[in-house]
This record gives sequence, structure tokens and C-alpha cells, in this order.
Amino acid sequence: MDNKYLMYGGDYNPEQWLHMPQILETDIKRFKEAKINTVTIGIFSWSVLEPREGEYHFEWMEEIINKLYQNGISVILATPSGARPHWLADKYPEVLRVNELRQKYLFGIRHNHCMTSPIYRKKVRQIDTELVKRFGNHPAVKMWHISNEFSGECHCELCQDAFRMWLKKKYQTIGALNDSWCTTFWSHTYDSFEQVESPSPLGESCIMGLTLDWKRFVSWQTIDFMEEEIRTIRETGGMQPTTTNLMYHYGGIDYYRLAEKIDVASWDNYPAWHKGNEIETALDTAFWHDVIRGLKRKPFLLMESSPGATNWQPISKLKKPGMVAAASLQSIAHGADGAMYFQMRKSRGAEEKFHGAVLDHYDGNDTRTFRDVCETGKILEKLGETAGLYTTAKVAVIYDWENRWALEGSRGPRNEGLHYEESVEKSYRALRRLGLNVDVIDQKCFLQGYQMIAAPMQYLFHENFPGEIRRYIENGGIFVMTYWSGVVDENDRCFLGGTPYELMDVFGLRSEEIDGLYDWEENSICQTEEKMAGMKEEYVCKYLCQLVKPTTARTLMVYGKDFYAGSPVLLENNYGRGKAYYVGADAEQWFYNDFYRKLSKEAGIEGIWHDEIPEGVEITSRSDGKADYIFLQNFSPVPVQLCLPQGTVLIGNKEGKMGSLESIVIKVEKGGKEAM
Ligand code: GLA
Ligand code: ZN
Repeated sequence: MDNKYLMYGGDYNPEQWLHMPQILETDIKRFKEAKINTVTIGIFSWSVLEPREGEYHFEWMEEIINKLYQNGISVILATPSGARPHWLADKYPEVLRVNELRQKYLFGIRHNHCMTSPIYRKKVRQIDTELVKRFGNHPAVKMWHISNEFSGECHCELCQDAFRMWLKKKYQTIGALNDSWCTTFWSHTYDSFEQVESPSPLGESCIMGLTLDWKRFVSWQTIDFMEEEIRTIRETGGMQPTTTNLMYHYGGIDYYRLAEKIDVASWDNYPAWHKGNEIETALDTAFWHDVIRGLKRKPFLLMESSPGATNWQPISKLKKPGMVAAASLQSIAHGADGAMYFQMRKSRGAEEKFHGAVLDHYDGNDTRTFRDVCETGKILEKLGETAGLYTTAKVAVIYDWENRWALEGSRGPRNEGLHYEESVEKSYRALRRLGLNVDVIDQKCFLQGYQMIAAPMQYLFHENFPGEIRRYIENGGIFVMTYWSGVVDENDRCFLGGTPYELMDVFGLRSEEIDGLYDWEENSICQTEEKMAGMKEEYVCKYLCQLVKPTTARTLMVYGKDFYAGSPVLLENNYGRGKAYYVGADAEQWFYNDFYRKLSKEAGIEGIWHDEIPEGVEITSRSDGKADYIFLQNFSPVPVQLCLPQGTVLIGNKEGKMGSLESIVIKVEKGGKEAM
């Protein structure tokens, strides 16, 4: 008997309804109707769990967990450190944050606490300990949800001191720090660590090395805070896997480093569905699912999504029929072992009373959202056997957090947007359109083993990165790097002696200059007389145009305009057993689509799907080695007809018809030895 299942449920905040027990009764009844098997509780319960310092009230939570358990519903139990009670801030004001202007916040909102404050850490340790003592062995508790959406930074004196300590440990001497940050420029030399202040518009904002280290420190300190919570749980005997909910596009924490400390990566996904082009939104969401899966390169969890409208986006858009199921299924398709919502029941007042929820204030089960949630529950139940299955990708795209920080803080060559993430997504989208599963990795991940890697705009090179690229290509890999790569080291210091640093021989060229284009300017990427097969005559490029000087590289395409018309923009160099490609300009999407199609064809890199993929159809797969589970999703506004391979259709139309927002999941047994 296979008891695998996908988690289905969401954030549940029953502490708001303790005085209305009939609501809690209804909730459980409805959860069962919707096939909900897991809820996350306790995220913001601190003031109910510990209304006065040291006075704990867990009975209500115990009763709820017991009831859920009796009804077959598991619990992801959160530590409440995402929002603290009033008494705590009143008695220990040091727990409140100070902003970069050195202004102290009052009590209010959430996530407003200092990650350094020893008192905050102690108070969190105490409540976590009590929570684990009480519920660590409860059979309903399946996972620990550490805090909520870790984010933000604090500039208080405690944080300044911690930052200075962190710097001392890193640099040992102030001389080494000055050297790494190039502080002689503008006479910014530090005489001692005590002079260092976090970046501020009122003070230092021109030393990129300082800005980068501050971001590293904030990221490190937040992870350290989280680790302390995990340690408390473990030391008190809570052995269930840990997670914390990450956010779309959030840059403040290096998620790759954070993920090393948790067992399961999870994230909160709120795309602006129905805002514009659904196909684009789906691709962007797909990218972020793959970023999150890439953090641990194993199944992840969709921790939050809205079953209806959100209330914080500029416009609260309803989910059109089919959207809830399509969005939840998309996460499973990309490797999630569960799809969860925020929130299970709409709160009565305050900030999120109009945020979409499984259950409305109205309370009945005859709402459109509830029907959608039930429908999705049925789909997920049928896909239980996909839980735990891996996503194997032959290709990867590099998206690096520290590189992102360095680009954000950089001055020039375009202070009106370097479009780093867009450039990463262009490669990603082109590969996805070929029906390839794509891993998103950072510079510190293991490169070997992929057949092709795209590395857009790797401005900052980590110490070992160029060596890894060299080894990868030497061993037969195909590596595509773009403009503005290998320019600075980990302290944002320019490499001397030519770029891309340490790789000029590998790419067979040297980058000379880079032209920033105004938003309204365009250049083009054109064929030469030799004509490159599989590519069009001309593509538009914008924003950035790198001028390079080839040595051994072969010029495949050239610029069409400006004083550098005719000079190389797309180049190829054979190195070792592999190939190094260099794309000199920010090209339009079509360029990447055609280019990666050509490269994968030549290298024999095949996706799971062999036919042409209609526009807007997403194809992904998960596998257990014996069978492939192929997920087909139609995010285009028009119906499509696909020719399905031999297999068992688990979800959707058996003849391969898919209306807009419809999906098909098909299980295809693998032949040969693997199927034994
Ligand atoms: C975040 C938070 C939730 C809730 C939702 C609303 O993801 O983690 O507590 O506020 O946003 O969309
Ligand atoms: Zn602080």
C-alpha cells in the first residue's frame, strides 16, 4: 500500500476564533471536504501562547492539534518569532529595529525585530523550547516552520557591534579591510574597526565593498538567528524536518546559504495572474519554482499561495476558473511535494481581512473559491505517488545572490537598470520552451554533470568560479556566458589584466568596452556573410553592448549599428572537449530561443517531449527512475491538442486536449533495465 501523499492545506490561524468554537468545528468539517491534509499553525500566535512574560498557554493549541489529528490532518508547527507580543517590546525596547537613518521603530507591524538582540534571541529560545516540549512528540506535527518570511535589516548599536566583530573575523586587520574595500579612493581609509558604520544615506554609501559585506552580514546574521531556533528545537527533542518560507525575488538573504541549514526549501508564491500575459506570468513563476527547487536540488514545498485575490497587490484580482488548480499543480510539476495556501480562513479584522482564503466570512461551502479548492484537492490526491520524486535536469542556469548584490550596488554602466534577473530569465525561458527541465544554481554549486550551462551577466566572480568553468568546459561542457561577466572580485574590486578574469583563453577573447544604451535605443545582432544556421538575419539588442576583441574565438554574429557595427557580438571558442560561447549584448528573447534550440540540437540535448511544443504550454517532468510523470499545462488563452505518448493519464483529457489553464499529467513507464 503506497501511503505517499502531497501536502495540501495552508496557514491556519485559529487563535482568532477561540471564543467562537462553532467556527473551529466548521473548519475541520470543511477541511475534510476539500481533502486538506496539512495546516500550518502558530505563525503569529505568540501573544496568545505567552500573554504575559513567562506565562504560557498551550491548552488551546493542544486541543486544536488533537482535533486536527483525530480528523487525519497533520500540522506544520511554526515558531512564533515572526511577530512579538506588545509586552516584549515594551519591556525590552532593544528588540525593536533601527532603520538605516538610525531611527528606532515603535512597536507595530511584524518582522520588526533585531536579529542580533540577545534578549530577543533569549525570548525566542524560551518560547520555542516550551513549544517543542509540549508538541515535539505529537504525532500530528510533521514539520517545523521557522519564523515567517525572514527579511529586513537592523542598524541598531547591537547590530553595528556585531557587524564590526564579523568584519574583524573576516579581515583580521584594518589594513586588510582597507585594501579589500579600496578605501584610499576619496580618502575614506578607516583607522580602526570601531569607525565602521553600516551603509547609510546619512553616511557611507560609496564603498561597494562595505555595502557588499553589510549585505553578507545581514544575510549571515539572519541565518544565524534561524539556526539558533533550529538548534533549540533539536536540543529540546523536536526531530521533524525544518523549513522556513522564502519569498519571490527577495534579495536580502542569500537563499543558497540559508538552504544549507534547513531540511526542506519552501516559498510563498503570489504571481500577478490575470494582470497581463498569462504565459509570461507562468514562465516567471516557473523560474521561481526552479530557483527554490535548486536551493537543495530536491523536492520543495509551496508554503503559501492565494486561493483567491490577495489584498496587498495594487489591484485585487479574482482567480479565474481553473487558475487555482493550474497554479497549485504548477508547483507540483516543478518538484514541490505539496501546495499550500495563505490562508485557511479569512480573519475578521485588521490587515488581511480581505485576503483570499479557503473559507470566507460567509462560512458556507458553496463559494466559488471553496469549490476550486475542493477541485484542486482531488487533483492533488490523485497525484500522491509523485511525492518525493526528483526532477532531473540536463541543463542549468546560474543565478547568483552575491552577484546580484554587486550589480545592484554598482555604479555604471547603466544606473537605470542592468536587468540582471531578466537576462537570467531569458536564457531560462528559452530552455524551458524546449521542454527541458532546468536547474537554477549559483556560482558555488557543482557545475560538472550538466550538458549545457547558461551564465548570464556573472559580473562578480567568486574565487573558485573561473576555475570551475574552465574545468567544466575542458571536460566537454557547453557554457554560454554573456556580457559584463568576470569583471570584479568578491569585494567589487576590478580584476586587473583583462576580463573575463582568468577565462580569456577559454573564451578566446578579451572584453574591451561596454556601451550603456538609453531605454529607447536599440542595436542589432546580425548574421555575417558566413550565415549561422538556425538563426535569423537579425535580432534586436538593448541596454548593454559589450565590445570584445577575439583571439581564438570565431565570430558568429556581429553588431548591426553604431560605430561598432560589424564587430563581434556572438562568439564561439573550442576549449578542451567543450565549447565556450560569449553573447555580447542584451538580446531579445527570440535570439535566445533560436540560439539555445540550435545548441541543444547540435549537442543532442533532448527534453522529455519530442514534438513541437505549442506556445504557452509548459512541460516538466518528475521521475523515480522507473517512470516519468510528465506534466503538461496550457497557460495560453487558446485550446491546444497534443499527441500523448503511451502511458497512463492520471489527470486531464486522455486524448491530449487542453483548454486554457487545463493540465494533463501522464505516467510513462520507462523501458529497459530501469523498469525492472
Ligand atoms: C506573506 C505572509 C503571510 C501573509 C501573506 C499574504 O506571504 O507570510 O503571513 O501575510 O503574505 O499574501
Ligand atoms: Zn539590531
